Amino acid sequence: MAELTAAGPGARRPAASRILRVAGPLVEVANTGRIAMNDLLLLGPAQVPAEVVALTTSRVTAQAYEYTGGLAPGQPCRPLGHPVTARLSPALLGGVYDGLLRPLATAGDRLAPGTATGPAPGPRWRFTPAVATGAQAGEGTAIGEVCTEGGQRTRVLVPPGRGGEVGHVADPGDQAEDAVLAVVGGTEIRAVTDWPVRRPRPVRERVPARHPLTTGQRVIDLLFPVARGSTVAVPGGFGTGKTVLLQQIAKWCDADVIVYVGCGERGNEMAEVIADFAELPDPRTGGRLADRTVIIANTSNMPMMAREASIHTGATVAEYFRDTGRDVVVIADSTSRWAEALREFASRTGELPAEEGYPAGLASALAAFYERAGAVRTLGAGPGSVTVLGAVSPPGGDLAEPVTAHTERCVRGRWALDRDLAYARHYPALSWSQSFSRDADVLTADPAGRDTTGRRAAVAGLLAEADRLADLVDLVGAGALPPPERVSVLAGRLVREGLLQQSALSANDAHCTPAKTAALADAVLAVVARCRSLVASGTPPEDVERADFTPLLRAREDAGPDDTAPVHAARDTVLTALGGPR
Ligand SMILES: Nc1ncnc2c1ncn2[C@@H]1O[C@H](COP(=O)(O)OP(=O)(O)OP(=O)(O)O)[C@@H](O)[C@H]1O
Ligand SMILES: [Mg+2]
Repeated sequence: MAELTAAGPGARRPAASRILRVAGPLVEVANTGRIAMNDLLLLGPAQVPAEVVALTTSRVTAQAYEYTGGLAPGQPCRPLGHPVTARLSPALLGGVYDGLLRPLATAGDRLAPGTATGPAPGPRWRFTPAVATGAQAGEGTAIGEVCTEGGQRTRVLVPPGRGGEVGHVADPGDQAEDAVLAVVGGTEIRAVTDWPVRRPRPVRERVPARHPLTTGQRVIDLLFPVARGSTVAVPGGFGTGKTVLLQQIAKWCDADVIVYVGCGERGNEMAEVIADFAELPDPRTGGRLADRTVIIANTSNMPMMAREASIHTGATVAEYFRDTGRDVVVIADSTSRWAEALREFASRTGELPAEEGYPAGLASALAAFYERAGAVRTLGAGPGSVTVLGAVSPPGGDLAEPVTAHTERCVRGRWALDRDLAYARHYPALSWSQSFSRDADVLTADPAGRDTTGRRAAVAGLLAEADRLADLVDLVGAGALPPPERVSVLAGRLVREGLLQQSALSANDAHCTPAKTAALADAVLAVVARCRSLVASGTPPEDVERADFTPLLRAREDAGPDDTAPVHAARDTVLTALGGPR
């Protein structure tokens, strides 16, 4: 496979070696010299890829990324002299890959593991040059762009650390995948480039993350917004809706590229995502959603070992598209399954276990992943960002367990999914009391410039007040509360059912534009305000409670995703039914 055999940056070319010992996924080979930590080896006649995890002057221990059945002492080993490397290409968009970025075949609802044989025929694309011979081009400068079959345009950049005078530029028009598109300072530049997955790609500088990423999920965009370039953990017990929520975001958020890393999750779920994305149109471009998506699948039926690499591979692909000037979102589902792979690695290599059997390096491994997020000025000086959203599946819903606890320290936001809300079929089951967003303070306006702080504070206030009263209501019943507090209980219900709940299964409600979110929030706030003033001026609270709020509660499903007029109409119907204050 081209990805694995291509010499990465700084290749050393060590001599061929032999297998000495095979113990499950751990394989020992003779050290022929010039082999280094994290280097990639190809083992046996089947060329099973493996990564060096320990070495002495005579022996090298490697962790195989695939099933080691059939490998035996004496068989050949080919050290590649470079670490695990991803072959980055504009053609990645729309594809499905394994943890080492090898294309996967889908068969029905199953995904077949990637194999190391048979190079796929390279794509051709249309090249448009942007520089002329004799010009100066520094690192990160676009020498032109290629347009792939899906119609996506991707800039071709001078790689990090290179630059100089442009000696040659290819003619505009169709070019093969591996064609030299320019020669800059003596370096041949192709649209396809290799990068070691564990090394973050350099940027000119990091800039503060200040622009909102609209996810299309009201509870997030309104109460716990995320900035482009930020990081969010999504912890939630078994079946609380992590996968559905992250898939909704992958489908509807306003990023340019989505890298969806399915890490140790069920194969049929991944196959569903792939089928869905192939069919759904992208609301922003009119093309297919798949054309802005890169799927990296390392499902529970695939070898555990490539799972560890898959998260770094995902981050590397995201950084590559960021460097071409895009806003990228990386979704990792689930980082807990990834941490389990770390634990298995550690126990096999005899590392001393720390908390709950995880290696002592768990916290720094998580931090290394989340640190690859950020809003940046790229080497070419343009803006770009990588936002990282990671699901966490704490066993038994225990938020104090190591993966959840260490993740907390690396992220700027938490969307905690609550089991009680999920049981009550309140979806997304995002807990407003357990979630937070450190980006909320800087995200004071939505992309259309509408102020969001006032609405956010008003809605959060209503929810907090209703929560405060909930225990009392359970104890004495709502009827025993003073009239203003009865309105607060009612307000909590209207916010939850009319605004925060969002059905992933309804065409109108599955995603929501900032305009509709604002309209729904304002409608609920207006109705609550009217209820308050009615009660304040003497209307019995039971009369207010008996009013028909159905139009308001149904507005989210009755109005299209970007439709505000039916929301205003529903608000007016309810206000008219309530009547004015006496
Ligand atoms: N937004 C939603 N709208 C409608 N139904 C939902 C929504 N979110 C979750 N569900 C329901 O909850 C079920 C479980 O959700 P999901 O598979 O996303 O949970 P999970 O947290 O990823 O579970 P696991 O811990 O097993 O990975 C879904 O099959 C679906 O029926
Ligand atoms: Mg899941």
